[in-house]
Amino acid sequence: MYRATIKGLGYYVPENIVTNDDLAKRMDTNDAWIQERTGIQERRHIKKGDGNSTSIMGVKAAKIALERAELTTKDIDMIVFATLSPDMYFPGGGVQIQDMLDMNTVPALDVRNQCSGFVYAISVADQYIKTGMYKNILVIGSENHSGGLDFSTRGRNVSVIFGDGAGAAVVSRSDDEDSGILSTHLHSEGKHKDELALQGPSTEHWVPEIIEENPQEDIPYYPYMNGQFVFKHAIVRFSEVIKEGLDANGLNVSDIDMLIPHQANLRISQFIQQKMKLSDDQVFNNIQKYGNTTAASIPIALTEAWEAGKIKKGDLVVLAAFGSGFTWGSVIIRW
Ligand code: UT7
Repeated sequence: MYRATIKGLGYYVPENIVTNDDLAKRMDTNDAWIQERTGIQERRHIKKGDGNSTSIMGVKAAKIALERAELTTKDIDMIVFATLSPDMYFPGGGVQIQDMLDMNTVPALDVRNQCSGFVYAISVADQYIKTGMYKNILVIGSENHSGGLDFSTRGRNVSVIFGDGAGAAVVSRSDDEDSGILSTHLHSEGKHKDELALQGPSTEHWVPEIIEENPQEDIPYYPYMNGQFVFKHAIVRFSEVIKEGLDANGLNVSDIDMLIPHQANLRISQFIQQKMKLSDDQVFNNIQKYGNTTAASIPIALTEAWEAGKIKKGDLVVLAAFGSGFTWGSVIIRW
């Protein structure tokens, strides 16, 4: 068995900053409510004509990660791409990235696990490296939420939370036995699939059908979230899956040098931090600046933490996510 390690990291967010006050001009909300309930101060939104899309942002993040890994696209054996907001219904965004990066005919796999997408994607990459099948895998999470949210008051509980952006990691075979990805732990519970979901357009909720059923109404293809229900499950599952990862490696909470939780809501991160008795230095949050960028949130946060010198060689780094599905998971890394 080989060991996989994260060799390079990068992120990209659109330049267009959208503050809470900006949103308050479009819907009945306010800065105080958003900050108090979520911790979010601003987020980035793609602006029409700025040249961005989900896959284009993914490419931008990937290029930075590749450069930092001191690798070129020729060295990459596979793309694993996580998103819930692809540019097209099909084919997946992975092949768009493969094309834009002009990468021979390497396989491109799309992961559809929403907020847990990056954790699932890292786990997939880890398995391919461990077995020796591939040496270098490009793992990307990217989201264009602003293209599909309801910015009227009706959608305010969802639309104030989410932002656009992308993050990427080069996952490579490592010769260093003392460092790298120690384990990944994944879960799902589909009975809660409707609590945070976008029903259509899809084969079950097709556009002509929806128009027929709702001739006087807007087509309801915006995300739905039962916020409090999701919140309650998130705080339980986050702690559980972090503990599961630590236990599997004979480690304790006190061994964690840096926890990068999926940036769902600052209150969720703070709750986990308190419950696990972690100090401010042991948890990294940047939701204040970017909102919840779903599959991109962990790689953006991981990159920022690394760039700020908060992750050093030998550190125990824990990634953890929870979201729609429900799906959740953790990754335990010795840096
Ligand atoms: O990343 C994927 C996983 N997602 C999550 O983990 C999200 C988990 N849930 C949450 O973060 C929180 O539940 C929310 C931030 C979404 C909502 O916060 P909450 O404290 O659970 O609020 P609520 O939904 O219970 O709504 C409280 C009130 C309601 O008004 P009434 O019925 O009390 O009059 C809402 O209509 O706040 C109202 N409200 C808003 N007011 C101003 C909902 N959204 C807004 C808004 N601005 N944007």
